[in-house]
This record gives sequence, C-alpha cells and structure tokens, in this order.
Amino acid sequence: MPNATPTRKLEGRVALVTGAARGIGRAVAAKLAAEGARIVINDRDEGPVEDAARALRGSGATVVTCPGSVTDDGFAHGFVNTAISKFGALDIVVNNAGYTWDSVIQKMTDEQFQAILDVHLIAPFRILRAASEPIRTFAKQEAAEGREVFRKVVNISSVVGLGGNPGQANYASAKAGIIGLTKTLAKEWGRYKVNVNCVAFGFIKTAMTQPIAAEGERRVGVQPELLEKLEREMIPLGRLGTPEEAADGVYLFCTPESNYITGQVVIVGGGIAF
Ligand SMILES: NC(=O)c1ccc[n+]([C@@H]2O[C@H](COP(=O)([O-])OP(=O)(O)OC[C@H]3O[C@@H](n4cnc5c(N)ncnc54)[C@H](O)[C@@H]3O)[C@@H](O)[C@H]2O)c1
Repeated sequence: MPNATPTRKLEGRVALVTGAARGIGRAVAAKLAAEGARIVINDRDEGPVEDAARALRGSGATVVTCPGSVTDDGFAHGFVNTAISKFGALDIVVNNAGYTWDSVIQKMTDEQFQAILDVHLIAPFRILRAASEPIRTFAKQEAAEGREVFRKVVNISSVVGLGGNPGQANYASAKAGIIGLTKTLAKEWGRYKVNVNCVAFGFIKTAMTQPIAAEGERRVGVQPELLEKLEREMIPLGRLGTPEEAADGVYLFCTPESNYITGQVVIVGGGIAF
C-alpha cells in the first residue's frame, strides 16, 4: 500500500527568514512552512510582517515574528534569540532581506554605497555571527551523542554579483561579497555540519523588478524595454521567474538531499547567462 501521507521534509525544523513580508522571502517562508518547518519571519515594518504571519498561520504554519531593520544594532541577537526562546532550536537561516538604490558611480554617494552593503552583506554577517553560538552549542551536544544533524544557511545573491550591472556598483559589490562569506563559512562550519550555500537569482517577478518607478528618494525597478528584451532574448526559459520558483531554489538547499553540498552558488534564473 503506498503511504497516503507524503512526508514533509522539514518537519520539526526551525527556520529564520529575513525580508519575509513580501516577494521572494514571503514565498520562502510559505514553502518552508508547508514542508513542516516552524518559522521566525522578519521584515522592516511591523504591519506587513504581522500580515504575512497571519496569512501563513491561516495555511497552518507555526510562525513568530521579529520585525525591525536587519541593519539595526542588536537586531541579529534579537532575531536569533527569538528562535531560541520561542522554539528552542535554530536549523535554517535564509538571509534574504534587501533593496536596491541604483546610480552610476559618479553619482553614487558614500551613504548609498554603504546602505546597500549594510543590508545585503553586513547584516547577514552579523546574523550568522550571532547564530554561531547556539549552532556550536547544539552541534557539540549532538556530536557528543554520536548524532550528525545538518543545519542550513542559504544566502541570497544575484547574477549581478557574478556578472556586474551598470548602475549597481553598490548592489553588485554586496552580492559578490555574500558569495565570499558563504564560501568561508562553509569551510569554518563544516565541522558543525552546517551546509552554507548561496542562491543567485536572475530576474524574479517582484517589486524589485517591476517597471521602473519611484519609491521615496530611490528609483526602483527595471527599464520596461530591458524586461521585454530579457524575456525575448536573454532568458532561455522565456520569462521572469515567480517568487514561488525562486523559493523552490532556496528550499533545495534546505532539504536533507543537500546534506553533502556546501559552499556552492546556484543560479535560479531560467538559464540566464551573465
Ligand atoms: N527579484 C529579483 O529579480 C532578484 C534578483 C536577484 C536577487 N534578488 C534578491 O532577492 C531578495 C528578495 O528580493 P525581492 O525581489 O523579493 O524584493 P522585495 O522588494 O519584493 O522584497 C524584499 C523584502 O525585504 C525587506 N527589506 C528590505 N530592507 C530591509 C531591512 N533593512 N530589514 C528588513 N527587511 C528589509 C522589504 O521590506 C521587502 O519585504 C533580495 O536580497 C534581492 O536582492 C532578487
């Protein structure tokens, strides 16, 4: 008799996802929760993060929230402590939060360059540094018991971090930097059985890739002509990805099937070359 109840791959695990109120982060939280993980979600503002949590709970997920900017002093410890105090565990970290603030280099201010490094590179570094203490404690305990328990870090990069992009010196530098952080931690944390990998997205249909628009003082989005050209000529699969397809790429690195894969970068981009 085939088993009627499919096994959920992340049953009992605890996952932390930053920037999960919308877009890819929200889809990642939904996917991990659908596979049985309990989730700590973050986003900058309380309202959107609580709305996302309500929607996830409506689908049966166990969710707690940790609102606030990932760049705030003390955020990293608060985020990690939320997982430990609410669930007593920490198994998966997805560093997803971020935004773009584009200019050509001659117009890019120090503030603009630093802000983008802060959110895409420094904040993940701080979160992982804060997570290192509980991870090492759990891993030592498990090793003493003769158990091998794999934990997962998925850092989010971009094809822009691999290939560069005019107008995005700040973003490309940060997204290249997160690859170096990923590869280094894969080497430092192998002994603790942590798989540290990176997903570099191509073009995924979210607010970040909407046709260009103003968001406060920043212009966000992509030129409509480029979007057309991407779909017509540059993306072999012929269209932008959905947030759910992007989340599936992240999920692959959270499954037990990726236990012997670490320090890698996978492009989830419909075949786009860079
Ligand atoms: N959409 C794409 O095509 C694409 C391509 C490559 C990489 N990415 C990366 O994927 C990730 C998700 O992007 P998205 O497309 O879902 O964008 P999005 O704008 O839809 O979502 C990003 C989320 O991050 C949150 N956020 C931004 N700054 C934050 C901060 N300081 N603290 C906490 N939360 C913050 C936003 O509020 C938002 O909810 C980002 O790291 C982005 O750089 C996206």
